Amino acid sequence: MPAISSTAPAKVILFGEHTVVYGYPAIAAPVTGLEARVTITAQPGRSTLPVIEAPQIGLKTTLDHLPSEHPIALAFNLVAEALKLDHWPALHLRLTSSIPVASGMGSSAATAVALIRALSAFVGHPLPDPQVCELAFRLEQHHHGTPSGIDNTVITYARPIFFIRDQPIEFLTFSMPLYLIIGDTGMKGLTREAVAGVRQRREQNPTWYDDRFRAIGELTRRAKRALIEGQIDEVGRWMVENHRLLIEIGVSSPELDRLVQAALSAGALGAKLSGGGQGGIMIALVHPENSSQVEQALRRAGAANVFSVVIRTTQAI
Ligand code: MEV
Repeated sequence: MPAISSTAPAKVILFGEHTVVYGYPAIAAPVTGLEARVTITAQPGRSTLPVIEAPQIGLKTTLDHLPSEHPIALAFNLVAEALKLDHWPALHLRLTSSIPVASGMGSSAATAVALIRALSAFVGHPLPDPQVCELAFRLEQHHHGTPSGIDNTVITYARPIFFIRDQPIEFLTFSMPLYLIIGDTGMKGLTREAVAGVRQRREQNPTWYDDRFRAIGELTRRAKRALIEGQIDEVGRWMVENHRLLIEIGVSSPELDRLVQAALSAGALGAKLSGGGQGGIMIALVHPENSSQVEQALRRAGAANVFSVVIRTTQAI
C-alpha cells in the first residue's frame, strides 16, 4: 500500500458565529496555507497495532494506548464503523498541523477531516465529502459539546459557505477576493466554554439576547448580498456591527477589542473577532495596498501572531 497524505485547511467565520448555534445564518471561508496534514504509511510484514505520531504535541504511541475519547482514537473508530472494518492493517500515522490550536481557526475540525480522509483512503475506500463532513461533525460533538456544524462543513468542502444548521449548504461566490489580516491574541479561547457561557446568559435574559441574535442574523444576510455584489465597504461596516453585537453577548475580550480597534485605526475596512472568541483570533478586511499598515498596527497592539490571507472563490473576476 502506498503512503496516503490528506490535508484540510483552517477556516475563518466572516459573520454569524455563536448565533449560528441557534439556527441563524453564518458565513465562513477556508484559509488555505494553514492546514492539518495526516500521512499514513503501511508497515508491510508487521502485525503490530497502528502507530500514531503527532510530534507537535509530543505524542508517539500505539492505537491501543490512546484513551478511547482521544480525537485520533475516535476517528479510527468512526471510520472503522462506517467502513465495517474489523481490524486495521499495520500502519504508521503521522499528524502535523500549522493551524493555531484553540484560536477559532478550526484546528479540531481540520484535524478530524484530514484523519477521516486519510484513514478511509488508506484502506482503499475514500469516503465521499458528505460522509467525511458527517463523521467530522460527530468528532466535533465530542470536542465542543453542541457545535453548529459550520466548522466541519466549510473545512470539508473548502469553499466559502452560507450556513444555516440543518439546511442544505449554500456555496458562495464572492465577486472580489477578500484580503484579510488575521490577528491572533495568543490567548486560548475554548469554544465549548464560550458557547456554554452564551447559553447560560441567554437563559437569564432571553428577550434581550434574542434581539441581538436576530440583529446578527439580519446583518449576516445583508453581508452575504454585499459579498456577492462586490460592495466591499459595506462588508466592512457589517463586520464592525457584528463585532459590536458580539461584545454585547459577552464573547469578546479586552485583547480582541484592542486588536479590532488597532486594525480600524490603521485603515481596515472592517474588523471583528472570529470563531468562539474570548481569546483566539480577530480578522480585519483590508485593501491590499493597506495590508502591511494593518499588519504592523496589529503587531504593535500586541498580536502574538499575524497572518495575511486572501479568500478567493472559484469564479475568476
Ligand atoms: C466556532 O467556529 C463557531 C461557533 O459558532 C460555534 C459553532 O458554530 O459550533 C462559536
